[in-house]
Amino acid sequence: MIHEDQPLVLCMVGLPARGKSYIARKIVQYLSWCGSDARVFNVGSYRRSTLGAGQPAEFFDPGNAAGAEARGRVAESALADLLAWVKPGRTAVYDATNVGRKRRAWVRERCEAVGARVVYVESVCNDPDVIEANIRQTKLRSPDYEGVAESKAIDDFRGRIAHYARAMEPVDERDGPYIRLTDVGRRIETYDLTGWTLGRLVFLVMNLHIAPRSIWLTRHGESAWNAVGRIGGDAPLTPRGEAYAEALGSWLPTQVDAPDVWTSTLKRTVATAARLPWPSRALRVLDEIDAGRCDGLTYAQIESRWPDEFASRKADKLRYRYPLGESYEDVIARLDPVILELERMRRPAVVVAHQAVLRGLIAYFTGRPAADSPHLDVPLHTVIRLTPNAYGCDDTRFPLE
Ligand code: SIN
Repeated sequence: MIHEDQPLVLCMVGLPARGKSYIARKIVQYLSWCGSDARVFNVGSYRRSTLGAGQPAEFFDPGNAAGAEARGRVAESALADLLAWVKPGRTAVYDATNVGRKRRAWVRERCEAVGARVVYVESVCNDPDVIEANIRQTKLRSPDYEGVAESKAIDDFRGRIAHYARAMEPVDERDGPYIRLTDVGRRIETYDLTGWTLGRLVFLVMNLHIAPRSIWLTRHGESAWNAVGRIGGDAPLTPRGEAYAEALGSWLPTQVDAPDVWTSTLKRTVATAARLPWPSRALRVLDEIDAGRCDGLTYAQIESRWPDEFASRKADKLRYRYPLGESYEDVIARLDPVILELERMRRPAVVVAHQAVLRGLIAYFTGRPAADSPHLDVPLHTVIRLTPNAYGCDDTRFPLE
């Protein structure tokens, strides 16, 4: 991750139920996974903790002076916390409707006063089915509607949207740099963006969607080198590994229909996928972490030959780079295009790969920062099903022997 000198504030813009909080969460998830410090400041949560949940639609009426004043105070309090937190190398996401140009100018002025640059991220959605699905999947579960009958909650929420719609002024060049997403990534427009982080984020947000699908992950079956504790290499499967490939080949088709199947280019993953009834594609980007000079050794041999290397790895497994090889951080960086492709796909995917690589993928989808990745549990002979949803990702494990 390239840390930029100036703090970045992404200011969400859009009517309620346009997926802003989902986009905000994904941005933070992605940047944290890349090793950056990122955080969402959600004004709705500040409202609930300051004024209590369950404000009726009239509270959001721009003509309601008391409501407008209370909403202004809550917006101010979230922004003050954001400004106290943000600093060079950090990205803050200010998650609120920010439908009016005056409000957006206020956010910019306050952020620029602490040296942060502001980019607006507007989510526009005109598809009534998507809006309806969003209201049902997320808003009805909000503490704002706890204990409220569904039809009453939907009517109230539509009333809230209508109030914001009256005040809506779409972002344009007068606001400054922006990204506008229309109809869940169908169209994307950017204006005046610069820098590494924004370059990456444009690719992320244009690929996001919330269509239901699962991503199936598995390590290869046991290899001849696993059996003797040697790392790296390109060893074939053992009989036990072959039995896992067989079990996978009969069980997975009972769970998933017509997925895209990816393996690494190494023999043990290609052989593990060979019994699946679908074609597979071998991708070098999915190869195991390169152990460099330690390739072929056991951990005990590394410790006795190069005790300093062993200790450095133990001290910082994320950043430790094997001599002439890779670190976990390097693996995460090379997985970036895989993540974007998995985000973009609407079909199910099956990835047959290696421990370090799967740790990287699981860390991203389950919303963990880069530093957690080297420590995640990814056992042999276990299929992992990840199912992303509006709030996070379910991680279900199926041991298969
Ligand atoms: C909220 O109170 O739920 C959001 C406030 C805003 O988006 O401006």
